[in-house]
Amino acid sequence: MAKNTSLEASDNVDLKKYKRFNLLEPTLASLGFFLVTLLFITTFFYFNFETAANSNRPPWVAWMGSINGAPSPLSSPSILAICGNERVGFLEEGGDSCDIFDGNWVWDDSYPLYKSPYCPFIDGGFRCSEHGRPNDFYTKWRWQPKECNLPRFDAGKMLKMLRNKRVVFAGDSIARNQWESLLCLLSTAVSNRSSIYEVNGNPITKHSGFLVFKFEDFNSTVEYYRSPFLVVQGRPPIGAPPEIKYALRIDQIAWSSSQWRDADLLILNSGHWWTYEKTVRAGCNFQEGEELKMNMSVEAAYRRSIETVVDWVNTQVNPKKTQVFFRTYAPSHFRGGNWNNGGGCHLDMLPDLGPLVGVSYRLKIVSDVLSQRPNSLGVLNVTNMTTRRKDGHPSIYKKWPENEPASHHQDCSHWCLPGVPDSWNELLYAIYLKRELIQA
Ligand SMILES: *[C@@H]1O[C@H](CO)[C@@H](O)[C@H](O)[C@H]1NC(C)=O
Ligand SMILES: *[C@@H]1O[C@H](CO)[C@@H](O)[C@H](O)[C@H]1NC(C)=O
Ligand SMILES: *[C@@H]1O[C@H](CO)[C@@H](O)[C@H](O)[C@H]1NC(C)=O
Ligand SMILES: *[C@@H]1O[C@H](CO)[C@@H](O)[C@H](O)[C@H]1NC(C)=O
Ligand SMILES: *[C@@H]1O[C@H](CO)[C@@H](O)[C@H](O)[C@H]1NC(C)=O
Repeated sequence: MAKNTSLEASDNVDLKKYKRFNLLEPTLASLGFFLVTLLFITTFFYFNFETAANSNRPPWVAWMGSINGAPSPLSSPSILAICGNERVGFLEEGGDSCDIFDGNWVWDDSYPLYKSPYCPFIDGGFRCSEHGRPNDFYTKWRWQPKECNLPRFDAGKMLKMLRNKRVVFAGDSIARNQWESLLCLLSTAVSNRSSIYEVNGNPITKHSGFLVFKFEDFNSTVEYYRSPFLVVQGRPPIGAPPEIKYALRIDQIAWSSSQWRDADLLILNSGHWWTYEKTVRAGCNFQEGEELKMNMSVEAAYRRSIETVVDWVNTQVNPKKTQVFFRTYAPSHFRGGNWNNGGGCHLDMLPDLGPLVGVSYRLKIVSDVLSQRPNSLGVLNVTNMTTRRKDGHPSIYKKWPENEPASHHQDCSHWCLPGVPDSWNELLYAIYLKRELIQA
């Protein structure tokens, strides 16, 4: 409990800092809000006609739904399947062919599934409401597949399925984001919070290595291993040029994989660290065998690393025990600059309305490799859905590490919790539940 109090105290200090920082904001924020309001009012009138039949949701929500990639009512042969509850359930027999990653974000007042002040497993960096985010719109969107309905997340049911099991997330800090989301979601079904604890007594603020949270009543653990590249990052070979400080051995799975291998549910990701700045520019070159690949592009190296991951799953992981998923790239949304030169997203309050442009090369590489090699990996293909959620990032509404002055940049890469990663976990839940039902 002492820990909690000190956390709150430091959060308050932070809030004060933000109040000062925010003095500049009201004009911009109110201008933004005014424009959004105007948009709502305009679309309200426009859509009152078209949505009269199914309008117990705010009309602007229906409007967003129809722009968001769903066919417009007039051009659609299956208006009921889009607007009503006529979709088949994903868990039902007819739901087998449903692509649950193809769909829309719809407003749902019953969301979010938990509230951040009641979840002790969230980093300050993802706690947006507590750091002054002005509204909770970003917590209200539910992912609705086009062709079927998802089961509602049932934490008690998930915990029962996970009894005596290990769930492992291995990857970068976005994996950590999703891991914390799952901890919060599951903990809603546990009344005794002291029965959920880190097995080594480490606090959630520890950012290196790994953290293992145990749900004592279920003898199950939900674990996170930091491994932003998923392959070995080590010393360069002897005789390498002095400016090369590290080598990424793109043909060798990360050492910590020995700890993930026997998990029951393993969720992998990598992507954000595969940039020129974070590798070659930082003195970290690629290595294959004993050879430094001085001219290899980051894309080629990323592809090779994904092949390494898939080969490792195919040869080192027992498919009868371990279900492996790869979560695809979750895009950042910096506007007006990049993360380090003034780019931001703090005025984005709504998901994307229009059609999307551009496919992340990272998604393409992962999709290519998976289609070229037979494998048993499941895919959490979240890139498309996540691209539309420019409103879901902490931006300026977060706790900053001590050594980073808040005003210098925004966070448009990670996600507020509750928020977008909850939806990834709802999809994970749906797939896992479906597989369990098939086995039973
Ligand atoms: C991806 O998103 C775009 C834009 O919203 C949409 O048109 C497209 O159908 C989506 N593709 C899939 C396979 O989900
Ligand atoms: C608890 O779960 C672990 C696997 O995570 C298993 O090895 C162990 O036997 C379980 N303990 C009990 C008492 O069932
Ligand atoms: C809650 O869990 C803790 C840790 O297992 C245990 O010591 C305590 O007795 C539990 N409290 C209740 C009310 O069950
Ligand atoms: C790598 O690049 C250097 C300089 O651009 C060039 O001299 C060298 O021939 C290239 N090596 C290979 C194997 O392509
Ligand atoms: C993921 O979905 C996109 C469409 O949004 C598709 O192009 C891609 O092939 C899918 N990738 C995998 C690995 O399923």
